[in-house]
Amino acid sequence: MKLDSGADVVALLKAQHEQVKGLFQQVITTMGSQRTEAFNELRRLLAVHETAEEEIVHPRAREVMANGDQVVEQRLAEERAAKETLGQLEDLDIESTQFETAFRRFQKDVLAHAEAEERLEFVELSAGLDRSQLERMRKAYALAERVAPTHPHAGVESQAANLVTGPFVAMLDRAHDLISH
Ligand SMILES: [Fe+2]
Ligand SMILES: [Fe+2]
Repeated sequence: MKLDSGADVVALLKAQHEQVKGLFQQVITTMGSQRTEAFNELRRLLAVHETAEEEIVHPRAREVMANGDQVVEQRLAEERAAKETLGQLEDLDIESTQFETAFRRFQKDVLAHAEAEERLEFVELSAGLDRSQLERMRKAYALAERVAPTHPHAGVESQAANLVTGPFVAMLDRAHDLISH
């Protein structure tokens, strides 16, 4: 799904969850440079996706939902745990069985996190907001994705490259810098 299409913010977030799922599969089913590439793309997508959620989606959920604070705190705790696990994965040899085992556990946790967001947060969020509000959030989210691209686009390689390399913590910092501006 194109980020600047007519879809609302929830449809867009769900589409990104599917993208994340696909990249997890790619890492598991490949080896060598293909696996490294898929792992890099997954880390980059997660850095931008989670940062945009933290800046744009979770704050709105806190306001709109009756138990918003509680739901958001749980999601943030999962996001922090994922960040830690990714840091550990980055220290492992990507072709080792150790990586494979830890990565599958990570996959399970991240997909459970995405599922919890969809079920416990996004449903109520879209019910609590009208179309124009959801539309505005989609625009803000699309803008976040534009300043912190998850794919290198022709012509903006140097900007995209800032996110491509480095450990996940650095990617997150970079995404925060770009998106919170
Ligand atoms: Fe999230
Ligand atoms: Fe998410």
